[in-house]
Amino acid sequence: MKVLITGGTGFIGSHTVVSLQEQGFEVVIVDNLSNSDSAVLNRIAKITGKESYFYCEDICNRDALKNIFSEHQDIVAVIHFAAFKAVGESVEQPLKYYHNNITGLVSLLEEMKSARIPNIIFSSSATVYGQPENLPATEDSPVLPATSPYGNTKQINEQILRDFLLVNQDLKGISLRYFNPIGAHPGGLIGELPIGTPNNLMPFITQTAIGKHAELKVFGNDYNTPDGTAIRDYIHVVDLAEAHVVAMNALLNNSLKENYSVFNLGTGNGFSVLEVIQSFEKTTGVKLPYRIVERRPGDVEQIYASTKLANEVLGWKAKYSLDDMTLSAWNWEKRLSEQHFSYDDKV
Ligand code: UFG
Repeated sequence: MKVLITGGTGFIGSHTVVSLQEQGFEVVIVDNLSNSDSAVLNRIAKITGKESYFYCEDICNRDALKNIFSEHQDIVAVIHFAAFKAVGESVEQPLKYYHNNITGLVSLLEEMKSARIPNIIFSSSATVYGQPENLPATEDSPVLPATSPYGNTKQINEQILRDFLLVNQDLKGISLRYFNPIGAHPGGLIGELPIGTPNNLMPFITQTAIGKHAELKVFGNDYNTPDGTAIRDYIHVVDLAEAHVVAMNALLNNSLKENYSVFNLGTGNGFSVLEVIQSFEKTTGVKLPYRIVERRPGDVEQIYASTKLANEVLGWKAKYSLDDMTLSAWNWEKRLSEQHFSYDDKV
């Protein structure tokens, strides 16, 4: 079985390629390397012992997509990761986000339709829920107005997919709403490669611990939570990757009732920022310098997933603990500091 992975050299994409290859899938990757490194391809091959087909192309380039589908007529499904994802940048450069994230999906669906590719999995986000009134967030929780162009593109893309599949009942799709993916492959060969100063908590923690930043700023300790810091549902990226394989099998085996489904991917457990720091310090033995500062505008107070639907319908459940996540993220950061990742094994 051959699948096309857009954004396959990115953080979640690369881990998913590994999981797919380990389960016997052949993988074609299309990625323009705008936020990743081609060295990831060799790293994936080192882990799985299998090569991927690779196209350094932009998914908004229709001719490139046509060419890929014509060279690989045996592709049975697409997993669509390729998108911009920085919330703050999306506020500053909205058109960049609307162009890439919306045009990308529309081009892909049009080309999939003409190439008769029947299955798609879309990378969505828990951001579509905003701050839910009731927790845990279920797939039926209201989708609230987005607070950033980035969040808006996730909502619009889900809607595009829903509308498209409504009138194309012979095609099937799944949106996977990720909570907070962190951690790295246990071997330390692939992980998150943030360009510039990271906005997200885990890479900022590991970079602070390795000495790249003087301290972590904890954004607010006056939330209505047990320790006052904000709560999220952190999920190990390897668990997330495996969920894509399970979802892919559900599509290929025709085991879902509807031709469009939505699933939350989280652990179901909420942890505060201070609990993440405590886990990091406990698993690594490294003391983390941090300081409480003002809340970050746009942050929700707390969110965690109901994972019931993914458990019952897909038979999937996250296996890794928060300690596994913080330790693997640290091992990855240490590996990165020991080598010049970008230059050591370019393809
Ligand atoms: N945080 C800090 N200090 C930091 C970075 C983050 O205290 O330096 C806190 C945040 O305030 C938040 C928590 O750590 O409470 C997690 O923050 P992240 O930036 O890691 O993750 P978010 O929950 O804000 O963002 C994630 C995804 C986005 C998505 C968003 C909305 O990364 O893509 O969820 O659900 F849009």
